[in-house]
Amino acid sequence: MPDDRPILDADVAVVGAGAAGLYAALTAARRGARVTLVSATPLAQTASYWAQGGLAAALAIDDSPELHLHDTEVAGRGLVRRSAAELLVNEAAGIVTRLEELGVRFDRDRHGALALGLEGGHSRRRVVHAGGSATGRRVARALSATLVQDPRVTVLEGAHATRAWTVDGRCVGVVLADGRAVRARATILATGGAAALWARTTNPPGSLGIGMLIALEAGAKLADLEFVQFHPTAVTGVKGREGFLVTEAIRGEGAKLLDKDGQRFVDELAPRDEVARAVWRVMREQGLDHVWLDMRHIDPALFPNVVGALRESGLDPATELVPVAPAAHFCMGGVVADLHGASSVEGLFVIGETSCTGLHGANRLASNSLTDCFVLGGRAGDAAVALPPAPRADDPPPPGELHRPEQSTREALWRYAGLVRDREGLERLREDPHPLARLVAICALAREESRGAHFRSDFPEQDRNFDHRHAVVGSDERVVFETWT
Ligand code: SIN
Repeated sequence: MPDDRPILDADVAVVGAGAAGLYAALTAARRGARVTLVSATPLAQTASYWAQGGLAAALAIDDSPELHLHDTEVAGRGLVRRSAAELLVNEAAGIVTRLEELGVRFDRDRHGALALGLEGGHSRRRVVHAGGSATGRRVARALSATLVQDPRVTVLEGAHATRAWTVDGRCVGVVLADGRAVRARATILATGGAAALWARTTNPPGSLGIGMLIALEAGAKLADLEFVQFHPTAVTGVKGREGFLVTEAIRGEGAKLLDKDGQRFVDELAPRDEVARAVWRVMREQGLDHVWLDMRHIDPALFPNVVGALRESGLDPATELVPVAPAAHFCMGGVVADLHGASSVEGLFVIGETSCTGLHGANRLASNSLTDCFVLGGRAGDAAVALPPAPRADDPPPPGELHRPEQSTREALWRYAGLVRDREGLERLREDPHPLARLVAICALAREESRGAHFRSDFPEQDRNFDHRHAVVGSDERVVFETWT
């Protein structure tokens, strides 16, 4: 039955029911907190639910957290915050065990050992999957099932958070679009990223950066917004499947990228920024709107949901080449957060793709993000419960704006803040009515170099002066570069 009281009380409010939000909610509830989980969509429609990648964890005999750290830093192109990466690589294996305890069944080989996949930028097989490329779905399903049985958790589906409720700069809850408010000692934003702001994207339509905008309005800072990862192999030109992701794990099993002459042109398992730009370059040079992925020799049983979806649309990847092109996929930037997910606003936490701890640097290592959702989700859940009660508040503000982008904003981001940018285009984007589009432009203008996912044709080289310098921006739209430890 819908709960239509104007103020709902909880200890912890979690906004977003993807992997990070579900795990933070579970963690807080297991510590005895009353949790209200606010989800704009039914639980099974979040970006995590659609995630095909897995969790990166150094589990192989020939692997180690040090090697995982090294690969993360190499992929991140001199911008990875070491303390965040160390946390991730050291906690990843424990997270896999914890998820299994919660009912997630990861794929195993015929000897019963965890099956480890290879993805771009990883020097070892290190990615655990569930159901091949159905990892997000399996994990989200298992966590949701546990969560809905917990009497301490209330789930509000179809509820849109629009703004933080703050009193004297302290967050005391969150205000929903329908005028209700959740009052809580801690609010955790886990609304995913903003890649659906770009016209061509792998993300579900709700990935519009709403959590970033809520935090910004509450006084938090955003960082590294110029770094948007473009996935190299999103389907194009197949009816009903525009932007559908063909997981990198398929290239890990040997699928090849081909140009119009059927020639390979890149190491398919190089870090993602390199592969995406190589695809882009070949498309430009050969006048194409896509290249081709050859996965004809890959066992279809390994990736049932990719093969099934393509076959449903009339393309059989076991016998035909798959037309692919880059699409906006993942925001390395987000709300500045410490290693407990705390933003600079007391009582307000951010996790998953909404946050920016500096972990992903300028180019995220494949499958580090799902691991991050659990590592930081768990820590934020713990920290939220430990927070002192919020001051009494009885008068929530009215709902805020939802900031739905116009199609022109989405086109402008793709055009001016796509794989290759320059000052002229970014200056145009800076005039866009959408606040996040403007901030992307402002950060990208300030970074006068090329690094990772941010390539400026007018500054094509990486500049060492920007090593470990994060572009931090607030609602005053002024960028300050910071070094984080
Ligand atoms: C993929 O499976 O290719 C995407 C996963 C990720 O973004 O890490």
